[in-house]
Amino acid sequence: MIIRQERTEDFDIIDQIHDKAFGHDWESKLIRNLRTEEGYDPTLSLVAEHDGQVVGHILFSRVTIESPVGSHPALILAPLAVFKKYRGIKAGTMLVSEGIRIAKERGETIMLVYGHRFYERFGFTLAHEKGIFRPNPIKGELVRILELEENAADGVMGVIKYPVSFRPLIEEWYK
Ligand SMILES: CC(C)(COP(=O)(O)OP(=O)(O)OC[C@H]1O[C@@H](n2cnc3c(N)ncnc32)[C@H](O)[C@@H]1OP(=O)(O)O)[C@@H](O)C(=O)NCCC(=O)NCCS
Repeated sequence: MIIRQERTEDFDIIDQIHDKAFGHDWESKLIRNLRTEEGYDPTLSLVAEHDGQVVGHILFSRVTIESPVGSHPALILAPLAVFKKYRGIKAGTMLVSEGIRIAKERGETIMLVYGHRFYERFGFTLAHEKGIFRPNPIKGELVRILELEENAADGVMGVIKYPVSFRPLIEEWYK
């Protein structure tokens, strides 16, 4: 398994990975929109390649955690998916781990993800317990946080501000 940065020729297969995994095209549209948005960082769009085939993809984007007293930068992990046929052979784990490695290397301090218990194995915990929420937090809030430096979230509380491209997805979350 190789983890590498996305290339233009991977764009269609990346769409397919997410469309099949999530059963709709919200995530692939999100990725395509983000690619055209200012601040998009292609070095944080990674694919897992197995036997020469792209089988999984992960993207990290810049967000901020906003409070009345300030703004704190973070990276949001979204989306992540692996083709069903290739699940269980650690593509997902390697994609997340490589993203965490790159983020730490760059001095990032906080990583966020909206997702299930898969992320616990990397040390993600519930963000609302630290006072960090999505816009319009709802019951069963599942935003998770990983501090990339010890106590990086101490004193950081507030609401996550996403890139504009996330707006349609955020609207879907509240339907
Ligand atoms: C989640 C996903 C990316 C994991 O990819 P993967 O390559 O199969 O992951 P790995 O092989 O590294 O790890 C598999 C482990 O993840 C666990 N896992 C998968 N989905 C999970 C879920 N919804 N909740 C908890 N654990 C989950 C598996 O049980 C397995 O556990 P094990 O290591 O104890 O056997 C993949 O299942 C997927 O694409 N799912 C659909 C899309 C999705 O849910 N994306 C994440 C949205 S937040």
